[in-house]
Amino acid sequence: MMLAVDPSKKISFNRCIGDGDLVIVYERHDNMKAVKVCENSVLQNRFGVFKHSDWIGKPFGSKVLSNKGGFVYLLAPTPELWTLVLSHRTQILYIADISFVIMYLEIVPGCLVLESGTGSGSLTTSLARAVAPTGHVYTFDFHEQRAVSAREDFERTGLSSLVTVGVRDIQGEGFPDDFCGKADSVFLDLPQPWLAIPSAGKMLKQDGILCSFSPCIEQVQRSCETLRANFTDVRTFEVLLRMYEVREGKMENSQAEESVPTGSHRCKRRQRSSEGGNGMEISSSPTVMARPSSESRGHTGYLTFARLIRLS
Ligand SMILES: C[S@@+](CC[C@H](N)C(=O)[O-])C[C@H]1O[C@@H](n2cnc3c(N)ncnc32)[C@H](O)[C@@H]1O
Repeated sequence: MMLAVDPSKKISFNRCIGDGDLVIVYERHDNMKAVKVCENSVLQNRFGVFKHSDWIGKPFGSKVLSNKGGFVYLLAPTPELWTLVLSHRTQILYIADISFVIMYLEIVPGCLVLESGTGSGSLTTSLARAVAPTGHVYTFDFHEQRAVSAREDFERTGLSSLVTVGVRDIQGEGFPDDFCGKADSVFLDLPQPWLAIPSAGKMLKQDGILCSFSPCIEQVQRSCETLRANFTDVRTFEVLLRMYEVREGKMENSQAEESVPTGSHRCKRRQRSSEGGNGMEISSSPTVMARPSSESRGHTGYLTFARLIRLS
């Protein structure tokens, strides 16, 4: 379970794996999958056969062995990892944008958050954890099957008590009137967000914040025009993330003199001669190379934030 909330609304951190739990089987950062633990099942991969019964009772984070001595790690299904393993039914938001959204929307436990569209539920999963244990996320998508799949995912990840998925055309009908003036924040990931902005404004509490995610700048321009009527502090961001590979390797002198790619850094490990004890640096000492990873994600979209002005 991603987040166990007991009946008294306390979050419990049960760090041991039980029968029926969801675990993230980690081979490498780019090779993980979600598996439901079932006492009589096995997991088979290139490292051999792993019996689920060996996993039960072990703490999350454990390294477990196959029949051939191969290993994987069993990680807790956090929203961060879920975002990397979920089935993509749509484009999704990734960690860099998600963390920025949660911070800038000032989402804390107890908040009521409205979202549309639900899509693959990548953002919703993090919103749910951020509002737990007493808040709630109401998320809407007009695509019936996507809503059904999202509900199934929230059941699997143990978040269903924190999220309600509704089927509704938010651009056409707006959010339901029941939420008028009750939302702490509203998040839109819609093709024509400007159509939903007037309704979002009605749903927000005084001082509430809206965020709209759009891949194209033309969508942003149109949304900002609409926002100016009832919102203040309208700001747009693009979150660009650069990952680095940091590796240690031995380099010959001639190699060390070669130029390194832009953005790369290297630093020679200071190593003293063990034999002579003369304090000289060894020329072929291990070098720590750091260079931008080719996996870095570029443009995903623009995030526009705005705060409601309530004219009293
Ligand atoms: C890009 S996806 C959202 C992805 C989501 N933010 C995530 O992180 O997984 C956009 C979703 O908006 C939904 N959508 C498009 N127009 C809509 C509308 N008028 N009302 C409600 N949902 C809509 C689509 O069905 C789609 O699932």
